[in-house]
Amino acid sequence: MSKAAYRAGILHFLDDPDQHKDSWEYYEDGILLVEDGHVAACGPADDLLPKLAPAIEVTHFPDSLLVPGFIDTHIHYPQTEMIAAYGEHLLEWLNTYTFPTETQFADQEYAEKVAEFFLDQLLANGTTTALVFGTSHPQSVEAFFSACEARKLRMIAGKVMMDQNAPDSLLDTADSSYADSKALIEKWHNRGRLRYAVTPRFAATSSSEQLQRAGQLLREHPGVYLHTHLSENTDEIELVKSIHRDCDHYLGSYDKAGLLGKRSVFAHCIHLEDEEWQRMAETGSAIAFCPSSNLFLGSGLFNLRRAVEKGIPIGLGTDIGAGTSFSALRTLADAYKVQKLQGHKLSPLKSFYLATLGGARCLDLDDLIGNFEHGKEADFTVIDKHASELLRFRMGNCDSLEEELFVLTTMADDRCISGTWSAGVQRYANPNA
Ligand code: GUN
Ligand code: ZN
Repeated sequence: MSKAAYRAGILHFLDDPDQHKDSWEYYEDGILLVEDGHVAACGPADDLLPKLAPAIEVTHFPDSLLVPGFIDTHIHYPQTEMIAAYGEHLLEWLNTYTFPTETQFADQEYAEKVAEFFLDQLLANGTTTALVFGTSHPQSVEAFFSACEARKLRMIAGKVMMDQNAPDSLLDTADSSYADSKALIEKWHNRGRLRYAVTPRFAATSSSEQLQRAGQLLREHPGVYLHTHLSENTDEIELVKSIHRDCDHYLGSYDKAGLLGKRSVFAHCIHLEDEEWQRMAETGSAIAFCPSSNLFLGSGLFNLRRAVEKGIPIGLGTDIGAGTSFSALRTLADAYKVQKLQGHKLSPLKSFYLATLGGARCLDLDDLIGNFEHGKEADFTVIDKHASELLRFRMGNCDSLEEELFVLTTMADDRCISGTWSAGVQRYANPNA
């Protein structure tokens, strides 16, 4: 049995800090004990150190915060190479940059190279789980899952379904997308730590027949996810309404096909109508909040407060490559500003919750990951609070944990990530630490 202990400041959540007072635990000098890839204990060093067998190695991270691995609830691995594409709103951005880039993923070797690079980036940013778009090529998903399996990561991904309004080289058909997705589900869903998401790109690039086939896949394979985009941009909404004329609103095109529910994750949700909010809430559907992407494409400001009031599960998404950073911390800096522009304050505790246990709940994985309860998978990252001179200087002026967390969500990035562990195995070590 492998055992190892890690000593640092430790923070994790047991519940949503906005809704419950005793929702988090913080040990200023804490120990996380890992046995065979799972959390064996988490608590104050004073209590746990004397009980550890002498053979157990204790790795100490001074001036650091150890937290559950970040969870990215919406990201596109094939868009890694096109981050920071200039000047366009969503629909033009897709046509000008995204679709040509995704065409390259017909080549599995190319896809394998990008998948490895992408996973290196996620881990270097402290992210251990993500809900990931491939492209419409099944081989893009083969490449991605193979790379994840080799590193024993907990990941969810799927082949994009898109049968209209895009270049021919990216289009599938309702039937072929059903057959290809089904084969991928049978091969990869619940294989080790991997799970499958049925992934119609969005209602503008799927016929109603294809959306129906997506619904059929969900019914035939209970437990698989649904992952798509919703109500991101006003031109997109008009386009969707012009295509799916029999639906009252954008969400109606998905609802009609049976795509709403507990394991359904909709990215963006910026311009929802009242009835759409209502259907999201009553079906238990989840939202990926992607502030960096929403600012970058000029899409709009997500109403987090309304989503919280409705009781809708919310996770944080980087949405690479419309988002501009792999870092959950940098994305939280934008989340704060997006809320501030609407007159709201996003608290630092809520921010860390969103990036950890909130993300796990959004993905219905909170029985496995998201905090350090006994038996959970030991996915975690270590943040160096003194990684830059400015951070060290600013931290010296903090009076509380909350203030330190706020400084981190405002200023920290991948330079602060000392290391990242997945299922107890170190998968990233910062060469500059
Ligand atoms: N809507 C449809 N496809 C995409 C995509 O690739 N990125 C974003 N941000 N929105 C989309
Ligand atoms: Zn997206």
